[in-house]
Amino acid sequence: MKIRIILAICIFLTLIQTGCMPSAEQGKNGLDPVIESKIDAILAKMTPEEKVGQMAQLINDNKEDPEEIKNEIRKGRAGSFLNITNIEIRNSLQKTAVEESRLGIPLIFGYDVIHGMRTVFPVPLAEAASWDLDLMEKTAAIAAKEARAYGIDWTFAPMIDIARDPRWGRIVEGAGEDTYLGSMITRAKVRGFQGDDLSDPETIAACLKHYAAYGASQAGREYSTTEVPERVLRDVYLPPFKAGVEEGTATLMSGFNDLNGVPASGNKYLLTDILRDEWGFDGFVVSDWDSIKQLIAHGLAKDKSHAGIIGSTAGVDMEMHTHCYIENLPELAMNGAVSEDVLDTAVRRILRVKFRLGLFDNPYADPKLQDTNILTPEHREVARQAAKESLVLLKNKNNLLPLDKNIKSIALIGPLANNERALKGTWSGMGRDEDVVTIMQGIKNTVPNCTINYAKGCDITGGDDEGFAEAVKAAEKSDVVIMAIGESEDLNGESHSRTKIDLPGRQKELLKEINKTGKPVVIVLFTGRPLTIDWSLENIPAILLAWHPGIEGGNGIADVLFGDYNPAGKITVTFPRSVGQIPIYYNMKNTGRPFDEEDRFTSKYIDSPNTPLLPFGYGLSYTTFDYKNLKIENEKVAIPGTVKISARVTNTGPVAGHEVVQLYIRDLVGSVTRPVKELKGFERIYLEPGETKTVTFDLSTCDLKFYDINMEYNVEPGNFKVWVGPNSVEGLEGSFELL
Ligand code: NOJ
Repeated sequence: MKIRIILAICIFLTLIQTGCMPSAEQGKNGLDPVIESKIDAILAKMTPEEKVGQMAQLINDNKEDPEEIKNEIRKGRAGSFLNITNIEIRNSLQKTAVEESRLGIPLIFGYDVIHGMRTVFPVPLAEAASWDLDLMEKTAAIAAKEARAYGIDWTFAPMIDIARDPRWGRIVEGAGEDTYLGSMITRAKVRGFQGDDLSDPETIAACLKHYAAYGASQAGREYSTTEVPERVLRDVYLPPFKAGVEEGTATLMSGFNDLNGVPASGNKYLLTDILRDEWGFDGFVVSDWDSIKQLIAHGLAKDKSHAGIIGSTAGVDMEMHTHCYIENLPELAMNGAVSEDVLDTAVRRILRVKFRLGLFDNPYADPKLQDTNILTPEHREVARQAAKESLVLLKNKNNLLPLDKNIKSIALIGPLANNERALKGTWSGMGRDEDVVTIMQGIKNTVPNCTINYAKGCDITGGDDEGFAEAVKAAEKSDVVIMAIGESEDLNGESHSRTKIDLPGRQKELLKEINKTGKPVVIVLFTGRPLTIDWSLENIPAILLAWHPGIEGGNGIADVLFGDYNPAGKITVTFPRSVGQIPIYYNMKNTGRPFDEEDRFTSKYIDSPNTPLLPFGYGLSYTTFDYKNLKIENEKVAIPGTVKISARVTNTGPVAGHEVVQLYIRDLVGSVTRPVKELKGFERIYLEPGETKTVTFDLSTCDLKFYDINMEYNVEPGNFKVWVGPNSVEGLEGSFELL
């Protein structure tokens, strides 16, 4: 025993010395002995059927009088429900569980609260473009507070899949292509949803999804196979999950994807070896919808019973929607085909989260909270702030933007100018169309005396061009044209992969017709993914990337169009020139024959440049920022240690603004090859005109670790390049050496 204590102290001291303490302690929640003994007592009374009941998550489609379902609850054959947003039905099912089932165990209610519940914020890919972690924590906290008012205890968010393929519709749900940024955002979201205390009536349990590497879907096709080498899995796809576990997430969701031959929802290596044994996760794992049953279609299980065995023994504690567990596991446990330990472990984890959420003490939701806690003016204000911060100015030739508020007339053209749904985006919770401020409304609010000549021009998709003539007329009689074009909310998101990611339908043709009028054109671009907008970028003077900006989007867009807010968003995903370049992301490898214009036999295309249309981290402002004086305080650093890097950033333009200052490194030689650039830090600063700030990064040698040739997580001595700049391709360059 003594030896063990001494050993533990030594390890602790070494960790402190190396500066490699995780930023949140492992298993942050810690096990509460009181809760654990209560769970022991419950488990001791449970039949196998009641245990498996806890592992079953059912739906009831908000049915008013779900007697059949209630009978299941009475028998202890249900532990959770999803998608119940009617608080009366929720409470009535809960009453059945608490008062009419033998053990009175409360149910847990889950829902996809992805970017807001009633107050809908920008879609996650948009919000990530703000690089504002405090904002992201705040929007999650508001979403949690509102969700509780609807009786939701648990959100299936954040979605933290690293995604490098814009064909994949679900790229919209995550933070983009970068692991470092994705990990920081994961932490912010978990903190926002869960707060400090899960039993607080304004917090909900988070769920990291989709564990793991679902974003690597081959060819960007939804639900497709993923083949991810171990090193890439650990260097690129897993860190956000590890960060979320360290931050104390209550749950994770196992993905749909076949990962290296073993579907994620039956993958013991992921679910037990890594998640439990390496990371010490003590909450529970829910399968994605039907993904246990899908083990049959994958070809891993021969029937539902077999699927139930594989899923439960791999480490999926709760089955969403399908009934492989509840129909088979009780009997399989009784005849010894599945060890009762498997059930006990899963039930313990589920009950632990229910205890932490305070459901045993407070099983019912309070409907009165809907009078005070949803869609408040404060929530709307944060939504407007989030919308503004998410917008990315992609082009602004001759400072066409911001527009003068005294402008006499505007042609507002395009199928998204007066469309509510596209502002809400996919997974818009309980958001309602009537809550949305459209662009039309936002412009009217800001410049009430301006004449707005509206023309839809064409539909979002389809081949109709009947509205072109009217749109051209609207443009001709106006001083400036604002074109609201791009994707509707149902062109991205789950099961919405596309092979062509240009402007859909006839929108590009409409744009060309309008451009021919010679009027200055501003595009307000809606999308949930990078689009191949090379023609627009070349030919249209101003482009504001609006994404799907949430219910206050119209106001936020108008704030930027008319200069009440200086845009500062930067894209967190690379925009390709064409689909043929995919996958394209900033932190690629150099190859043995890196691009050389003069040399034909180097890594390139014969019909396209290698460079992206828009690089990761890119975004413009109404002002300009100058980067100077890159200083690396210690150019030779012993491991463990810290490299102090600073640069002076000055606002050299006419207006105040925010700038996201980014730090990148390149590890030049390693036991395995390293990417050409890696984001390792960022800071969002605010500068008045003429003001200068010194931005300093303390880069720990721990932040330079990767999985080495022996698959050990290590930092290696050698030379590094470093850049501090406004995006992933520009910046001041320096170097340092690790000894
Ligand atoms: C399937 C989706 O993949 C997942 O993200 C979502 O949480 C569940 N359905 C529940 O709606």
